Amino acid sequence: MRDYKHIEVTPITGILGAEIAGVDLTQTVSDAALMEIEQAFGDHAVIVFRDQAMGFEDQKRFTRMFGEFGFEPYVKTMPDHPEIIEVIKEASESGMLNFGGNWHSDWSFQEAPPRATILHAKDIPPYGGDTAFANMYAAYETLSQGMRDMLDGLNVVHSARRPYGTEAKLFGREKRAMTIINSEEAHAEQVHPAVRTVPETGRKALFINPVYAIRFENMTERESRPLLDFLNTHATRIELTCRVRWQVNTLVMWDNRCVQHNAMNDYDGFRRQLHRTTVAGERPYLAERGGNGGMARSPAEAAAG
Ligand code: SIN
Repeated sequence: MRDYKHIEVTPITGILGAEIAGVDLTQTVSDAALMEIEQAFGDHAVIVFRDQAMGFEDQKRFTRMFGEFGFEPYVKTMPDHPEIIEVIKEASESGMLNFGGNWHSDWSFQEAPPRATILHAKDIPPYGGDTAFANMYAAYETLSQGMRDMLDGLNVVHSARRPYGTEAKLFGREKRAMTIINSEEAHAEQVHPAVRTVPETGRKALFINPVYAIRFENMTERESRPLLDFLNTHATRIELTCRVRWQVNTLVMWDNRCVQHNAMNDYDGFRRQLHRTTVAGERPYLAERGGNGGMARSPAEAAAG
């Protein structure tokens, strides 16, 4: 265990997540405490702060401690706060899908997907509504050497078309508390390496998810499906996960580059409301590939030497 002097860090499971105490996020955080928070974030990838009675400006200040704001493409942001999404499901929305209710990494279809997501809880059901997280470093590290070597050389096509495309049925046509923006743009495709390096830790993480990763580059969806299904099931095995039980004023930050998450939809008849910001990230790369931003070379490029 690391020796922290400015914060207290208690791991949630042996594989992922930590609760952090001893810091008040409604106040300016000292550089020394911030360095330790960054350290804990690198080590645990999901960090949880309890009893933080933060307003919009506090959450924005906290977000900016880690980088620029990310861009929110397909969900209407708060009218006076274009950096904040209100993640909300009303008690009256019983039996309906929830936002984020499947394993995913936020906006992985972007050219430079967000480094981190920050959620602050405003209204929490008396039971249910937890968020589960899966460790994608561990997902990669627990594969065989042969599988890892193969994945190191593959790229994956990501797209937002399933949840946000013109035919998408995420929220259907019903009136919902959140406004989803379905669009033609969501059909665009973005290619990322199947395995990425997280710059601060130097570790390799599997970078796929069942919502946005639709196929391997240069393969059909049908050809890709068996391996993607295997990897998605492997990556979210219970021993590679942790689960956060929310309370009002809990703040959670997770690293989208090495973590997937899944919002549980088990609180019918109750309201759940959180405020979400994202921290901009870098274009995914695999360090050992070098050159072209860490992308695998196409067969034609490889043949050309
Ligand atoms: C999300 O996917 O960002 C939402 C997670 C949650 O509501 O727990």
